[in-house]
Amino acid sequence: PGFAAELVAEIDSTNAELMRRARAGFMAPTLLAAERQTAGRGRLGRGWHSAAGDSLTFSLGLPLAPADWSGLSLAVGVALAEALHPRLALKWPNDLWFEDRKLGGILIETASLAAAQAPRYAVIGVGLNLRPPPGEGLSTPPAALDELLPSAAPGDILLRVARPLVEAVKAFEIHGFAPFRSRFNARDALRGRAVVLSDGREGTAAGAGESGALLVHTAAGMASVSSAEVSVRPA
Ligand code: BTN
Repeated sequence: PGFAAELVAEIDSTNAELMRRARAGFMAPTLLAAERQTAGRGRLGRGWHSAAGDSLTFSLGLPLAPADWSGLSLAVGVALAEALHPRLALKWPNDLWFEDRKLGGILIETASLAAAQAPRYAVIGVGLNLRPPPGEGLSTPPAALDELLPSAAPGDILLRVARPLVEAVKAFEIHGFAPFRSRFNARDALRGRAVVLSDGREGTAAGAGESGALLVHTAAGMASVSSAEVSVRPA
């Protein structure tokens, strides 16, 4: 339905593979899922644990030309959370949380097409824990889908999220973050909580702004944060 779907047993990274294809000129809409990744990529140079059966890992690649890219990962998170479970929360900007534990993450990469500025080929990578990964070195304790959807098979979970994901990305391309803002804010895991930004600033999280920036009440006034690591300040 508008995109090719492929499932492979093993690959280095579904994001890396779609990025390689895009650089080689292949830009058809594709959903690539892998049973395991040998070099799963996370944000900020981190990895993503992807042993067989531990994690549902897939990437959606498609040409995309939104007027403003900011907020795309939030829109993707909204679509995933809404498709998966009423109690899934979103941790700005890229994580899915269940009860303050990380259930999944989103990694978006883009490649430019030929000489054109727009559209770009967007690769939207999603990793969802099916069961908790080995706990070493995680900044946030893990959650997994085996707690939330104990009887769902990985393939069914993928089917359940694929169409809402594609539809959300297309809606984002046309309308931007606007139709997602209140839906994000309804699931915002940080809202009203004391947070610390990676640059050391502290404040109270106040939801996503119009373009998806994180609003934070600080002593110096309202800050609009468009990229930073944000952690919840321990009480
Ligand atoms: C993060 O939490 O830092 C983002 C994790 C994103 C992991 C997914 S798994 C499928 C896709 N392919 C990758 O190599 N990474 C993303």
